[in-house]
Formats: sequence, structure tokens, C-alpha cells
Amino acid sequence: MLSVQNVSKTFGGFRALQGVSFEVREGEFVGLIGPNGSGKTTLFNCISGALGPSGGSIRFRGEEIAGLTPDAICHRGIARTFQIPRPFRKLSILENVALAAHFGHMTREPDAVARSRAKDVLRLVGLPADGEARPGLLGAAGLKKLELARALATGPKLLLADETLGGLDLEEIRQAADTLRRIRDEMGITIIWVEHIMATLMRVVDRVVVLDHGEKIAEGAPRAMAEDPKVIEAYLGEKIALG
Ligand SMILES: Nc1ncnc2c1ncn2[C@@H]1O[C@H](COP(=O)(O)OP(=O)(O)OP(=O)(O)O)[C@@H](O)[C@H]1O
Ligand SMILES: [Mg+2]
Repeated sequence: MLSVQNVSKTFGGFRALQGVSFEVREGEFVGLIGPNGSGKTTLFNCISGALGPSGGSIRFRGEEIAGLTPDAICHRGIARTFQIPRPFRKLSILENVALAAHFGHMTREPDAVARSRAKDVLRLVGLPADGEARPGLLGAAGLKKLELARALATGPKLLLADETLGGLDLEEIRQAADTLRRIRDEMGITIIWVEHIMATLMRVVDRVVVLDHGEKIAEGAPRAMAEDPKVIEAYLGEKIALG
């Protein structure tokens, strides 16, 4: 479904990504891990069109998408969440999600249709479906759910979930993992998930891709990655017991 080949991204003289290649099959749940600053968000930015890659190719369902604008990429079926949620604060929660539902569709559809889809998505992520409150009333976990709802409302085939920036307790991260799992299992949406809580991530994903200093250093089954000396040295620090 997604083929990332030899992608690089430089900022001035700094190489944030170099020669990154990996593939994702339709229906897979892939974990993307690596230390702070290893390039995970930059990679999501390149795939989703927030940044144009400096080199390499990104093919989605057979079509080159590197360098397309974010809206064009969204319309092809890729949605992403942002590490730092920034909803429209003056709109209600429901309006934020309905707006995303409109954005994901090429043709203008009736507002009632967008709102109805928004309500379904709010239920799915575990927010009140009436959604009349403003986002300012939500805590960190609620804002993450809203962020996910906005991405899902666009109707993606591939979801890039960038969830790392703390604020959630372990139980909330477990719930987020369950929700993502359901999104994959019940909606058939392919997922790449960035998360620093390894024990949780490793339990739900099918496969893990590991970045360090902008390069892919390993890729494989969670169990193999949890015991890989390169991955332990660059990131994990110690073996992870997966139970
Ligand atoms: N727009 C930018 N301009 C300059 N440097 C950038 C830019 N975006 C990212 N970088 C740098 O690229 C590197 C990779 O950053 P990135 O945000 O992709 O890391 P990350 O793996 O997502 O880290 P974290 O786990 O902390 O979220 C970092 O050194 C960062 O400072
Ligand atoms: Mg990041």
C-alpha cells in the first residue's frame, strides 16, 4: 500500500532523514519507533505532505505522492494526527470533526451528512457524540482523542498516528492502543503508530520499524526488535519483556 524508497530530508545542512526505505501492506499495523529527534515526525511530515522530501520516492497504492500538497494526499486516503493537538478552539468538538469530514471529501456534501459521520467517529474514539462543548474543556487524553477523530473523519485508508508527546497515563495509552487496534480490525484502516511506551506498542503492532539519527536501523516482528542489540543500544536501553 505504501512504499517509501530512499527518502531523505535536510534542513539547511542537517540531515533529519537519510535513505529511509520501508513498505507497508494493506491492513497492517506498524509501529514506528526511535529516540527523540530520530526523524519519526519528519517522516510523517514527508508522507502526509506537510514537508516535501529532499529526495527519494513515496508511493501510495502505486502512485507517486512525494511533494503533493497535504490536501491532495489526504484526498488520496492518508490522514495523520499531530503530536501537539491544535483544534479550532472557537468551534465545538463536533464542528471540528465535521470540518475534517468535509475536508476529506472532494465534493461538498450536506452539513448533516458530515455531522452524522463526525458523531460516529466521536463515539468510536470515546468522546461524547453530542460534541457541543469546546475543545478547551478537554484534558490531554481528550485532545488526543479529538485529534484522532479529526483524522478519521477524513475517511483515510492509511492513518499516521503521532502520539508521543506525553500527557497520558499508562491506562489512557492502553485505551489508545485498543482504539487503534479496533480501527484497524473493524474499519480495515492501515496504521503506522509512533509511541514511546514500548511495552504497549509492541503488544499491539504487527511489525516495527526503528529509526535512529534519521536512518532505519532495524525492522521486524516486535519480539525480534525487543531483543535486537542495535535497537536496545540506540533506543530501548534494555530488553523489553513482552509477556
Ligand atoms: N522544520 C524543521 N526545521 C529544522 N529542523 C527540524 C525541523 N523539523 C525537525 N527538525 C529536526 O529534525 C530532527 C528530527 O525531528 P523529528 O521531530 O522528526 O523527531 P522525532 O523522532 O519525531 O522525535 P520525538 O520522539 O521527540 O517526537 C530533530 O533534530 C529536529 O530538531
Ligand atoms: Mg515526533
